[in-house]
Amino acid sequence: MGGVDVVYNPYDPAVNDEPYPVYARLRAQAPLYHNPALGFWALSRYADVSAALTDSSLLSSDHGPMLDPGAWGPHARTFLSFVAMDPPEHTRMRAAISRGFTPRRVAALEPMIRQIARDHIGRAIERRTFDFAREIAAKLPLDVISELVGVPPSDRAHVRRNFGSLLMYDPEGKMAEDGLRSVIGLGDYYRSIIAERRKTPRDDLVSVLVADDELADEDIVAFLFLLIGAGAETTTHLLSAAWYWAWRNPAQRAVAFGGKVEQWVEESLRYDTPAHGVARRLTRDTDWYGTRVPKDARMWLLIGSANRDETVFPDPDAYDLSRDTGRAISFGAGRHYCLGGPLARLEARIALEELTKAVRPGYDVDPDGIRRTAHGNVRGMVCLPTTVTP
Ligand code: HEM
Repeated sequence: MGGVDVVYNPYDPAVNDEPYPVYARLRAQAPLYHNPALGFWALSRYADVSAALTDSSLLSSDHGPMLDPGAWGPHARTFLSFVAMDPPEHTRMRAAISRGFTPRRVAALEPMIRQIARDHIGRAIERRTFDFAREIAAKLPLDVISELVGVPPSDRAHVRRNFGSLLMYDPEGKMAEDGLRSVIGLGDYYRSIIAERRKTPRDDLVSVLVADDELADEDIVAFLFLLIGAGAETTTHLLSAAWYWAWRNPAQRAVAFGGKVEQWVEESLRYDTPAHGVARRLTRDTDWYGTRVPKDARMWLLIGSANRDETVFPDPDAYDLSRDTGRAISFGAGRHYCLGGPLARLEARIALEELTKAVRPGYDVDPDGIRRTAHGNVRGMVCLPTTVTP
């Protein structure tokens, strides 16, 4: 394959800080890119990524969506649930879980989400200067998932603490020791909730899931891990991206604060996609751009690059709330299309609406204080110092 002068290492901190110029070069010069040292092949053009996402017989999810299939060590199965399954197992499990995770149940969460958003926003803005990522963006999605699952408010901080160490990875994307201990601790905690709901059902997701004979306790534990793993950090990064990019683009910020909150959410999802890439295992030898990729190769599908593809999104590096984002694939595509997309959009819309009511549009961000994280497939800000005027 050509493109010999393009070097792409997703674990390089410089690439992680600013991946889009590298993606543009991959799309132009090496739309199929091989990194033998890290053992993956990357697709970066919109057409290739979206076609690959929808062909689950060619591209299997059986080793999970992380770039490094060994990232979770012996805990992969516990944590990944049906995102690491293929049909027919995936179809059966996703259908069973979806019966508890209905649009009606999600829509009914709105008042609760608004209350949690108001609480966190209110507490943060009292101090005027605070870390947006930590105080608002990270707390809201975790608390919403806890509420959905049925974790009592008194245990939410416990879940947040465990989840925090779950996100500690070494530079090559492997989970740190503390993270593995948290997996075990949180698993035990979830098992205790499942046991309680078996005895005394309530109006929460776990009670619906335990009533389903097709689901064993361990299926439910794995799904709860998937919910928290797939649904918390991604939504956190979406909120921080929206806050940051609106700050960087004052004209767009005026549009956002003028009431175009849904467009603010959609363009932020496209522009700084939280789920940057998903990985697959190739099930048979396949040619891309004249190069044969062998069966079992690790394929890296760059959603973050596809969403900046100039053949689909004109002037893709402009953050523009008036653009058509309809073709963005921020939530994936095909069988594994994000189950929590409507919930993520609802949370983001509510939080941003509440922020536009609570603070003036002339807020500030300290760009030197920003810290980013990326591990395997999720990328975003973990520290975003901001100053607001109520
Ligand atoms: C799957 C993105 C929020 C639950 C996915 C996938 C993507 C994605 C790209 C596909 C993975 C693959 O193809 O291997 C996002 C983004 C979010 C978000 C960008 C926020 C901005 C959520 C939320 C939840 C959630 C809030 C639930 C609380 C799931 C689940 C799957 C999934 C259960 C697995 C679906 C399957 O394998 O069939 N997500 N997600 N996500 N997401 Fe999300």
